[in-house]
Amino acid sequence: MRIAVTSDIHVDKNGPGVLRALASRVAELQPDVLVLAGDVATPLPTLLEALLSLRPCAREMVFVAGNHDVWSHPLSLAQGVDAWTRLDRLIPALCQEAGVHDLDTGPVVIDGVGFVGTLGWWDLSMRDEALGAPEDAYQRGEFGGLRWMDHVFARFRREGEDMPYAQVAVELRERLRAQLQAVNADRVVGVTHMVQFPSQLAYKSHPGWRFCQGFIGHRSLGEMLAADERVVLSACGHTHSPSDQQIGRLRAVCSPLGYRGEWLGRPDVQAVERAVSLVEI
Ligand SMILES: [Fe+2]
Ligand SMILES: [Fe+2]
Repeated sequence: MRIAVTSDIHVDKNGPGVLRALASRVAELQPDVLVLAGDVATPLPTLLEALLSLRPCAREMVFVAGNHDVWSHPLSLAQGVDAWTRLDRLIPALCQEAGVHDLDTGPVVIDGVGFVGTLGWWDLSMRDEALGAPEDAYQRGEFGGLRWMDHVFARFRREGEDMPYAQVAVELRERLRAQLQAVNADRVVGVTHMVQFPSQLAYKSHPGWRFCQGFIGHRSLGEMLAADERVVLSACGHTHSPSDQQIGRLRAVCSPLGYRGEWLGRPDVQAVERAVSLVEI
């Protein structure tokens, strides 16, 4: 099976040109399955446009939401549209309209290969302890003049109250566990938006980045995938640093496009080419 992996295409920030370049790159690779591991766009019409453009480029397409995909504008939040509404109701409806398998709603088996997945959520388990940022800085998402914007826009409400992010991380991790238990396949591909293994983080010395590392991953997502002998491939996004690693039996791929400002001046076509990894399993 030929699987193309990409993530973090941020169409609302990068512009629709990346979508055309990406669609033609994916079509060229002729994958059986396209894995899109989140961070497509915050505006839902843009997210739908991206799904519709990419869908015809592969025989099947699977998706998990990224943190940017579940952000709510304060006006929509006031109307009751929180992150759960986007994750569990609005985004699944867009995926259905586009003919894309939304793994956040459950696993799928394609040609005998199981696909499981979740947005997942950061749980501070990959934070840089040596930085010495105080606990309440992590709780507020603010340190040294830097603000982690999930604390502003990613609002998971339960009974009218914001849920603690630690609780969100546990709930989404347990959804992944339930999917692994439910999926009936000898080989499995695990997809999360959040980073799964600490080795997938690129070290940067800037204190702001070192602080942000706390909001990048969730170790037990990787541990859970690595512990299941059927999982041969895992894909994630969220960090905009690409990686391709062998971790025990499983190959862990992160193949993000990231923001235009991170492309080191490369034109769209080149940036997009680097952002789609083809894996054969
Ligand atoms: Fe991203
Ligand atoms: Fe992200």
